[in-house]
Amino acid sequence: MIVISDILELKKQIGEWKREGLSIGFCPTMGSLHAGHMDLVETSKNETDKTIMSIFVNPTQFNDPKDFAQYPIKTDDDLRLCEEKGVDLVFLPEVKTMYPETKTPISLSIPELQKHLCGRTRPGHFEGVLQIVSKLFHLTEPNKTFFGLKDYQQYRVISAMVENLNFPLEVIGVPTRREKDGLAMSSRNVRLSEKDRETASLIPRMFALAKKTILGGEKDIRLWKEILRDFLLTGSSLRIDYLEVVDPIHLQPKERLEGEVLLAIAVFVGEVRLIDNQIITIPS
Ligand code: PAF
Repeated sequence: MIVISDILELKKQIGEWKREGLSIGFCPTMGSLHAGHMDLVETSKNETDKTIMSIFVNPTQFNDPKDFAQYPIKTDDDLRLCEEKGVDLVFLPEVKTMYPETKTPISLSIPELQKHLCGRTRPGHFEGVLQIVSKLFHLTEPNKTFFGLKDYQQYRVISAMVENLNFPLEVIGVPTRREKDGLAMSSRNVRLSEKDRETASLIPRMFALAKKTILGGEKDIRLWKEILRDFLLTGSSLRIDYLEVVDPIHLQPKERLEGEVLLAIAVFVGEVRLIDNQIITIPS
């Protein structure tokens, strides 16, 4: 496995692969890798010749400096996992490589898709994500790129950027990998205390309740949200950041329970912010 921190070295390797006619799959990450990230790698390995992973905790996408400071970093373990899984190249840049002080920053946004959910409660987050991901796309020149669907809004925002700016690549959403009790895997889960980890299991149980009440004939969106909120709030260390029902394409709030809806939540369990979502088909 090749590990590169330097942009010129990266471009040289990619140039060689391109000249050999090899296709490139790209999995951007912030490290602290778990089985969910490995699903991205496996999908990339099945669909492309060479798989590149970037590991970079991107400062510009953290609206809360404390969250950035506490973001777990496990580079040695990450590199071991990448090697085991057969990643071909890991790009591991430093902050000054991605954000040289001499450059004037750019801001990208897709306002319609950022109006709700994390875009509303984490101002500046998606601008930071779009800034780093667009840079990484230019540097790695992938044919396909792989994003976890746990971060559904991120997947939609990136897809819209690729479409709008004609990036010559395909964005592929990879289903969320879950723990035994259904909690979505996340690098943040390691920060949960034992008690908070138990409380976090209310999240998958809430999604189960959501489906059950829909199958039971619930039609009132306001009532539905209230039932789900009340259920979540039985966790004493749990605080709801948002619980929204939006349409899965434009991410605008739904007024009626019909068709396909995206039920998306963000909660704080103790100090740790967790997100999850599911697309639910409402029976007609
Ligand atoms: O999903 C993430 O880990 C990050 O937002 C990403 C896409 C690597 C950009 O920093």
